[in-house]
Amino acid sequence: MATEETLVLVKPDGVARGLTGSILARIEAKGYSLVDLRLVEPDRERLERHYAEHEGKPFYEPLVDFMMSGPSVAIRVAGERVIEGFRSLAGTTDPTTAAPGTIRGDYGRDWGLPVQQNLVHGSDSPESAAHELGIWFR
Ligand code: TYD
Ligand code: MG
Repeated sequence: MATEETLVLVKPDGVARGLTGSILARIEAKGYSLVDLRLVEPDRERLERHYAEHEGKPFYEPLVDFMMSGPSVAIRVAGERVIEGFRSLAGTTDPTTAAPGTIRGDYGRDWGLPVQQNLVHGSDSPESAAHELGIWFR
């Protein structure tokens, strides 16, 4: 089994709530390796490239605005099947119904806002991981 790399973002809500350390601890406890890490205040152009697949959807503009509301922590994470594995650790997109034991399920809920405030991003395929790592670590 080949080692993969994925892009994880601790989104602005996670950073603002002081959950970066807890989220990093869960990634490390799972046995993944932190390869690179940086605090980033992305501009609109970077976010438009990152979320290009969602352009035109109703949640797209609020999502990009939210992602510009404060810094995110970008992390290059490596491990066997880490792309799929981190998505499982993150939980499903909507934090209200994400399973307990997942990052989104344990730390998130409905804040009366769209589900954009769901703490973390994880790449969803080898192709998007390569693309997104190029956007956040150039
Ligand atoms: P998506 O890639 O579908 O989810 P995931 O982060 O689980 O891969 O969507 C990207 C982000 O867009 C998601 O994390 C939160 C936000 N979003 C909304 O605000 N509303 C929605 O209906 C969806 C599907 C996503
Ligand atoms: Mg996605």
